[in-house]
Amino acid sequence: MKNFKRTLITSALPYANGPVHIGHLAGVYVPADIYARYLRLKGEEVAFIGGSDEHGVPITLKAKKEGITPQDVVDKYHGMIKDSFEKFGISFDIYSRTSSKIHHETASEFFKTLYDKGDFIEQTSEQFYDEEANQFLADRYITGTCPRCNYEKAYGDQCESCGSTLNATDLIDPKSVLSGNKPVMKVTKHWFLPLDQYEPWLREWILEGHKEWKPNVYGQCKSWIDGGLNPRAVTRDLDWGVPVPIEEAKGKVLYVWFDAPIGYISATKEWTPDWKKWWKDPETKLIHFIGKDNIVFHCIIFPAMLKAEGSYILPENVPANEFLNLEGDKISTSRNWAVWLHEYLEDFPGKEDVLKYTLTANAPETKDNDFTWKDFQTRNNSELVAILGNFVNRTLVLTDKYYNGEVPVSGELTEYDRNALREISNLKAEVEKSLDTFHFREALKNAMDMARLGNKYLADMEPWKVVKSDPERVKTIMNVALQITANLTIVFEPFLPFSMEKLRGFLNLEKFSWQELGRTDLIGAGHKINTPELLFEKIEDEAIQAQVDKLLATKKANEMEEVKVNPAKDNIEYEDFAKMDIRIGTIIAAEKVAKTKKLLKLTIDTGIDQRTVVSGIAEYFEPEKIIGQQVSLLMNLAPKTLKGIESQGMILMAENSDGSLVFVTPASKIKDGSEVR
Ligand code: 2FM
Ligand code: ZN
Repeated sequence: MKNFKRTLITSALPYANGPVHIGHLAGVYVPADIYARYLRLKGEEVAFIGGSDEHGVPITLKAKKEGITPQDVVDKYHGMIKDSFEKFGISFDIYSRTSSKIHHETASEFFKTLYDKGDFIEQTSEQFYDEEANQFLADRYITGTCPRCNYEKAYGDQCESCGSTLNATDLIDPKSVLSGNKPVMKVTKHWFLPLDQYEPWLREWILEGHKEWKPNVYGQCKSWIDGGLNPRAVTRDLDWGVPVPIEEAKGKVLYVWFDAPIGYISATKEWTPDWKKWWKDPETKLIHFIGKDNIVFHCIIFPAMLKAEGSYILPENVPANEFLNLEGDKISTSRNWAVWLHEYLEDFPGKEDVLKYTLTANAPETKDNDFTWKDFQTRNNSELVAILGNFVNRTLVLTDKYYNGEVPVSGELTEYDRNALREISNLKAEVEKSLDTFHFREALKNAMDMARLGNKYLADMEPWKVVKSDPERVKTIMNVALQITANLTIVFEPFLPFSMEKLRGFLNLEKFSWQELGRTDLIGAGHKINTPELLFEKIEDEAIQAQVDKLLATKKANEMEEVKVNPAKDNIEYEDFAKMDIRIGTIIAAEKVAKTKKLLKLTIDTGIDQRTVVSGIAEYFEPEKIIGQQVSLLMNLAPKTLKGIESQGMILMAENSDGSLVFVTPASKIKDGSEVR
């Protein structure tokens, strides 16, 4: 393994278009913080960089929605985000922002260097343009009907109903978000980073050189590279961002994903005049902490940019996490389905470590994971309180009771004592191995094992039983328990910094370095500890229920919102309705249409005939379970061929807010062929 002199830790810059939530914390900031604290405790030279990503369409859209300027948006959320991180003790050396002057200069210069070296290719293309608003439209500024599922509010880059990735030009009936008008196509010029040219190098550097990267990260890189890389536009027609520093590109800005990672460099510059040693010295180890949606940008695009520039180091590792869900559903800012950090801080004051503990114990390191309030409560009550808190508390209380808070002199150690103490060193080695390889959940489990060890030691030694018969022995037992406790202040320091500060206060101890973990004389005989207090407290059901209720209210509100987004349609005449021939029929046969996910081929007895109807309900119904089901059938819909099968009519379905479907059937059985009017 390569030897490095120092470590540069970056954590993804969150978009300043909203507050941060537990998903951010679990995916990026908690692991990055644990790692930074661990290395610092080892006495290593570390820089931990963070900041807000203040450019890009998410910001301008938010500004438009709130009727304020993009600068107002980022000022508001940058402040909030920074405050939340501070309160959670995320120990950045600097938390900066990309609307700063130093960042604009740095990003601009970076572009200029590549431009001057001829590293970009220039390409003109036709893009959607809003003639009323006089501007080109980013994908998110265009909505229209999804060509796949007919959802009417799909975005130019994605349909949120069926999840398809789209091109803006795919949309049926595209509309500009700005004016509501139909956009026109207009020619525009952009600068592209020819990623295809970096393919052989990326293959070598990642696929050959970094086989140790996490499987999820390596796998994503491999599939991007194998899929073939295309030139990537690094400029945009937008009026918010870092202006492209060439005359020809007046009015254009750098693509947010071009400038954002450069934000790590600008923040380092802002932090220290000595920034070059962090970014240009091969003895610096660069580690990017990010979520899985950022992998391509940090493993492929940014490294290609750095490589093109030529004077920078490359990331040594990118331990990206998967996603955290909340109570079974994807966290979503727009649907307010999240636990917001600023709200948690209000609802659970002084319990920052509890959340960090839960998020680490259940970190989405290898697969998406779910946060539930119940699990949060259990982690607190059954682990922090019942294991760590319980051991520490018993040790402190007994020391107070037996010796008036004065650490007793140890007599000779028994084999059992020595084994217990030796186990601390073993666990230290385990924790280190886990932390060095970014297995934070495992590391935390190893640390918790040290507290378990303490608990078991006390339970086995039963000092409370021996104290009368053999007070000398109890002195040794309590001395050992106190040494274990002192070791806990070290091993938990990267994970639970607030609580360990508290514990050191109880023990009247200074902070130890990581190297001292495993020592069995951390706390000397005669040392006076303080009057014990509780390290963690139980979280009651009411507090948990309040959070669950809050989420239920959100769910309700979202459902109401869904009803609103399908607004009432315009009035029609009875004649319009009467044109429809809707009758009751019975499904007499059903089978899946081959090679489709959604389609079922149904045979329906309509009372007059038996006809074939192809219906998009396969995701919700098993063919064999719907035989005999009565349905409402629109009989006179013009026949249509789907996957080679002629569909003669359409069965009527009602749709839940989550997209699931139910049959529209008569309330009681009725003769097939009965008309619906
Ligand atoms: O995905 C995001 O939230 C981006 N704002 C992350 C940017 S990371 C870095 F490149 F700045
Ligand atoms: Zn769709």
